[in-house]
Amino acid sequence: MSKLKTPLTELVGIEYPVVQTGMGWVAGARLVAATSNAGGLGILASATMTLEELQTAVAKVKAATDKPFGINMRADAGDAAARCDLLIREGVKVASFALAPKPELIAKLKDAGVVVIPSVGLAKHAKKVASWGADAVIVQGGEGGGHTGPIATTLLLPSVLDAVKDTGMPVIAAGGFFDGRGLAAALSYGAAGVAMGTRFLLTSDSTVPDAVKQRYLDAALDGTVVSTRVDGMPHRVLRTGLVEKLESGSPVRGFAAAIGNAQKFKKMSGMTWRSMVKDGLAMRHGKDLTWSQVVMAANTPMLLKAGLVEGNTEAGVLASGQVAGIIDSLPSCAELVPQIAAEAIEHLQAATSYIV
Ligand SMILES: Cc1cc2nc3c(=O)[nH]c(=O)nc-3n(C[C@H](O)[C@H](O)[C@H](O)COP(=O)(O)O)c2cc1C
Repeated sequence: MSKLKTPLTELVGIEYPVVQTGMGWVAGARLVAATSNAGGLGILASATMTLEELQTAVAKVKAATDKPFGINMRADAGDAAARCDLLIREGVKVASFALAPKPELIAKLKDAGVVVIPSVGLAKHAKKVASWGADAVIVQGGEGGGHTGPIATTLLLPSVLDAVKDTGMPVIAAGGFFDGRGLAAALSYGAAGVAMGTRFLLTSDSTVPDAVKQRYLDAALDGTVVSTRVDGMPHRVLRTGLVEKLESGSPVRGFAAAIGNAQKFKKMSGMTWRSMVKDGLAMRHGKDLTWSQVVMAANTPMLLKAGLVEGNTEAGVLASGQVAGIIDSLPSCAELVPQIAAEAIEHLQAATSYIV
């Protein structure tokens, strides 16, 4: 039987060039272990975990699989260094970053034998992290779920591939992938594999409540929207009632509306005003955000938690890629990952018949 061997499978030591990305509140120990056991690369989302919770999650993954897995973190988190120490101590194979980590942090991780894979949204960022020694990059196009950029994967991917060609750094394509055709296409572009978020959220191994998964399955291809009203940054989410309301509010009314929302979310989340204002100030520092966005930003993780963990689809925000509109099944990771690779091989082989 044919297999896929790419710079990604070789770099990380996995069977299939398929990555499950670090989605806050979604990529927990169960999903990560299931992905890695299926032969892909599971990545734990640690930005929504305390250090202690991360330690517990790592222990759970290690108890469930001896295959490679990764941890995603915010490079700008106050305790990023402590998280890296944990990762090194626990022998975790891959460090994934939502934003470019500092060169010293990359060097420290690499010295310890950790594979460093930052996510980037622009070719110039890919070039920068390549020069800092990153082992690979995940490039997410605008179709992707969560915080996202305006450029479609079909254009962003080749621009990144061209930018880092001379460095030989493997590029992993993300944003809009869900099946073997997508993997075949990414490999044809010159990528080393694909990374998927929404497709893995919609598996039987993800702990997202069933009613919420149904909301995603019911979405049409135009069922997501990129909103800056959640936290000031472009965020691709399902078009729910709450998002429609945020989108239709005039920016001038923004602050009053956000305070109202913040009050609701405070009650829902159990956060104190003090901690919310503190978070808001930290977010605002150095950024061009309005105060209403700051109030919302302080609550974004809680909004996502309300939707993705507590199943409150009316009060919560549901980050989602456009692929939600095309996905209509909830396979296990054990079914999904090998199936995608098998389909990709079929499509790559079929395409060779066009060559005469
Ligand atoms: C529910 C959800 C939560 C996400 N949370 C994070 C996160 O915490 N950190 C991060 O770097 N990316 C996050 N993302 C983005 C994904 O890691 C990934 O890049 C994206 O989902 C890829 O696009 P796709 O959904 O089309 O597969 C999230 C995406 C989703 C759908």
